[in-house]
Amino acid sequence: MLSPTQTWLSFILTFSLVEVVSTGRRNVLFIISDDLRPALGCYDDPVVKSPNIDQLASKSKVFLNAYAQQAVCGPSRTSFLTSRRPDTTRLYDFNSYWRVHAGNYTTLPQYFKSQGYTTMSVGKVFHPGIASNHSDDYPYSWSVPPYHPPSFAYEKRKVCKGDDGKLHVNLLCPVNVTEMPLKTLPDMENTAEAVRLLRSVKDTGSPFFLAVGYYKPHIPFRIPQEFLKLYPLESLSLAPDPDVPRGLPPVAYNPWTDIRKREDVESLNISFPYGPIPKDFQLRIRQHYFAAVSYVDNQVGKLLSALDDLGLAKNTIVVFTSDHGWSLGEHGEWAKYSNFDVATRVPLIVYVPGLTSASETAGEKTFPYIDVFRDSHQRFSEGRQVNTMVELVDLFPTLSELAGLKAPPPCPRSSFRVWLCTEGSSLAQIFRGPEHRDNSEAIAYSQYPRPSDTPQEDSDLPLLADISVMGYSIRSCDYRYTLWVSFDPVSFRANLSDIHAGELYLLWEDPGQDNNVYNSTEYSGVLCKLNAHLHWTATLKQHLLYFYSGSKAKGMF
Ligand SMILES: *[C@@H]1O[C@H](CO)[C@@H](O)[C@H](O)[C@H]1NC(C)=O
Ligand SMILES: *[C@@H]1O[C@H](CO)[C@@H](O)[C@H](O)[C@H]1NC(C)=O
Ligand SMILES: *[C@@H]1O[C@H](CO)[C@@H](O)[C@H](O)[C@H]1NC(C)=O
Ligand SMILES: *[C@@H]1O[C@H](CO)[C@@H](O)[C@H](O)[C@H]1NC(C)=O
Ligand SMILES: *[C@@H]1O[C@H](CO)[C@@H](O)[C@H](O)[C@H]1NC(C)=O
Ligand SMILES: *[C@@H]1O[C@H](CO)[C@@H](O)[C@H](O)[C@H]1NC(C)=O
Repeated sequence: MLSPTQTWLSFILTFSLVEVVSTGRRNVLFIISDDLRPALGCYDDPVVKSPNIDQLASKSKVFLNAYAQQAVCGPSRTSFLTSRRPDTTRLYDFNSYWRVHAGNYTTLPQYFKSQGYTTMSVGKVFHPGIASNHSDDYPYSWSVPPYHPPSFAYEKRKVCKGDDGKLHVNLLCPVNVTEMPLKTLPDMENTAEAVRLLRSVKDTGSPFFLAVGYYKPHIPFRIPQEFLKLYPLESLSLAPDPDVPRGLPPVAYNPWTDIRKREDVESLNISFPYGPIPKDFQLRIRQHYFAAVSYVDNQVGKLLSALDDLGLAKNTIVVFTSDHGWSLGEHGEWAKYSNFDVATRVPLIVYVPGLTSASETAGEKTFPYIDVFRDSHQRFSEGRQVNTMVELVDLFPTLSELAGLKAPPPCPRSSFRVWLCTEGSSLAQIFRGPEHRDNSEAIAYSQYPRPSDTPQEDSDLPLLADISVMGYSIRSCDYRYTLWVSFDPVSFRANLSDIHAGELYLLWEDPGQDNNVYNSTEYSGVLCKLNAHLHWTATLKQHLLYFYSGSKAKGMF
């Protein structure tokens, strides 16, 4: 056992050594989970068992306030992979490819590729289909064709055993993996392929950027059935605020149409749009989501342990994040499709060898695999947590700098013709000093489109042409402020003078965002509320100006 002084000394020595050695460039392992809110031990979730991700967190910076720019897969992924906001990618649905629809923007992996990296994609990284030109943006972003697990073909088939013993297309879908077609599941195949790729690039001499996109905990909850045992129903509770709040403007509400379409939910005959889902079924959804998270944790554990065995943990940056969150019954809502924290907030964990963690003693593994069924203890101590509000658009410049590349320049006001720039900020300085001070002024922007002021069938995911209202939302350390304003999907202009509804949550007394004081006249802190209105409206206007001046560029390229 080393004395504290010795430990400190060895840390300093390792630190400077790594700094010297790493004039060579670091590899990047970029792990993206799908629909994962920070329901993880290292984010103080009291229920979820995630020992492998917690272990990664214990050697990383853990961003407690990281937000997606739009809480739905395609728009969020295109946004963080190009480091541009949805108003610049002009993707609010799944139906356009930014290179032809908005601008020929350079992506994060494409930039690494242009700098000599071997870039590889496994699983769901770009949103598949039109949004990435049916190719996951290959060959621009990737050195080799992206990998898709064959067993994903069965994801939406009748493979879930129902209570009647027959096979269904269900939301809840715990399975015996050996009984599945191909006897495996997509995320298991993802891990195997990622490990195979790591082996193959290990000795090539060029640095690599490997993106691994896990499909879970996205619905359906088709997961190995044993993970349910970690969450006995009698130990679970409903969301603390399972009812639709009275002051919630209807435009803000998402009617969770996707889960209603699954056979098991359909048979419950739940009233549209507000429900509710019967309590026992709510508990089962929560149980399956948590089990799906532990299943992802298990895959991450296997992947990181392999990285370590290959000797790569000492020169590979590891990022773990998600495209957005998922409501688990809060405000009577399910799924993503909103501006609430439960939908926009994501885990963001960044391990930088030598910076967030000293090299391990010889012979000791950095990421030993932890079997959640034997040992689900959290391995996370405080002190590495960052409270500053950060956004997923920050990833591109941050990872570039941490890897040893130049960060892309900040985007000018109208950036539709600028191929390489960022609308985020590099967070690299947070990793440099041992003493980082949180910036309480920072804010995160998210937005969500709606087709109408009241919930209808397509409110969760309107087509571009049907968008008539946009909810622009600001999250600061003490407020969430959202303005729902009219939006023209042809000119891509929002009209901040045409306010359809507003939301203001004072987070020091309402962290769950259940009490909308936007209209409230009785609210005791009226002055503070008024100031917040003025301040945040001005901030939003300033923010939007950025995009308006570019609107003439529509149709270019
Ligand atoms: C888009 O950019 C890529 C390189 O980033 C380039 O190869 C391609 O030719 C560009 N396409 C157009 C139409 O400009
Ligand atoms: C999209 O894919 C099609 C078919 O492979 C190809 O012809 C086209 O050039 C691609 N678009 C761009 C912008 O690269
Ligand atoms: C899973 O399915 C296989 C093949 O049908 C069977 O042998 C095994 O007992 C099943 N396992 C469980 C835990 O049900
Ligand atoms: C806020 O006030 C507007 C206009 O007076 C009204 O239309 C809206 O329903 C109110 N919203 C809430 C949440 O009370
Ligand atoms: C579903 O609920 C509606 C009213 O909420 C009722 O009219 C209808 O009969 C129900 N259908 C079934 C299959 O239970
Ligand atoms: C914006 O909305 C206001 C209020 O409804 C309206 O008077 C104005 O004409 C709108 N501006 C544009 C450019 O449509």
